[in-house]
Amino acid sequence: MGWIVGAVAALALIAFLYWQLILAEGAYLGRRAVILLYDWSARVYDRIKGYNPGYEQWFLGLPLSQALADHPDPLILDVATGTARLARTLFQQSGFRGRLIGLDLSRKMLQQAVQATEAWANRITFICQDAGQLPFPDATFDAVVCLEALEFMPDPDQVLREMVRVLRPGGVFLITNRIGKDARWLPGRTYKPEACEAKLHALPLEMVHTKLWQEDYDLISAVKVGARGPVGMRRLEEILRCPRCQQPLQRVDAAFRCENNHAFPITADGILDMTR
Ligand SMILES: C[S@@+](CC[C@H](N)C(=O)[O-])C[C@H]1O[C@@H](n2cnc3c(N)ncnc32)[C@H](O)[C@@H]1O
Repeated sequence: MGWIVGAVAALALIAFLYWQLILAEGAYLGRRAVILLYDWSARVYDRIKGYNPGYEQWFLGLPLSQALADHPDPLILDVATGTARLARTLFQQSGFRGRLIGLDLSRKMLQQAVQATEAWANRITFICQDAGQLPFPDATFDAVVCLEALEFMPDPDQVLREMVRVLRPGGVFLITNRIGKDARWLPGRTYKPEACEAKLHALPLEMVHTKLWQEDYDLISAVKVGARGPVGMRRLEEILRCPRCQQPLQRVDAAFRCENNHAFPITADGILDMTR
């Protein structure tokens, strides 16, 4: 009898760990657990995902570059950029002349991103920082994107609010929302399609459009209510804010510093580390 109880307990534990670590990718174990799992898997991430470059261009790079085609030099923020999937497809579009800031909390994912985008290094900046507190003033970007990541954040609503805050009025907003059978294992981290659209309208975004994209994700585009001309790229000093005191940052040697002497190093691989 005792061995049956033991076997049932062991099976329950295995099932629980499978849910927490594989299906939910650490989402309910806290931000550190999520980032640790991505740090561990960064080297094999692209192989596991197996993105089809043609598909990426057709559904991601081309439509986004077309949506930004009126701007000579648009500035894009890619929240939870991972291994730079968005940058790789966007910079291959012949019509795209803009710049991109890729933000992620996993240093190892960012290191892969740096390597994968060497060809466009002068047009991309990678920042290590939490998506829940974006280190930029309001209305900084012409487009803000977050792909396949909101469900792993402790507070997806907070990330959505931050994304809209740093997007200029009239700017392009693009996210994914987890759907399908796996979404059932992520309660509180995914949105029902109608609820998602209502939430985005309230932020306030308009022209909200949900597209069936992959088995596991909807792709949702929108525009921030209001109108303002393109902002384009400016020096990093003009757009960075200290995540600890919100003051502007100045570059001093290999670091950015604010007037309260909070310092954020640029590491040897060129990543601006705002987590220290
Ligand atoms: C499934 S990957 C998606 C990466 C990329 N957007 C893509 O589509 O390939 C999720 C990413 O979210 C990042 N991430 C998770 N929680 C984060 C947080 N709180 N702040 C910033 N990045 C986070 C992870 O490090 C990981 O790179």
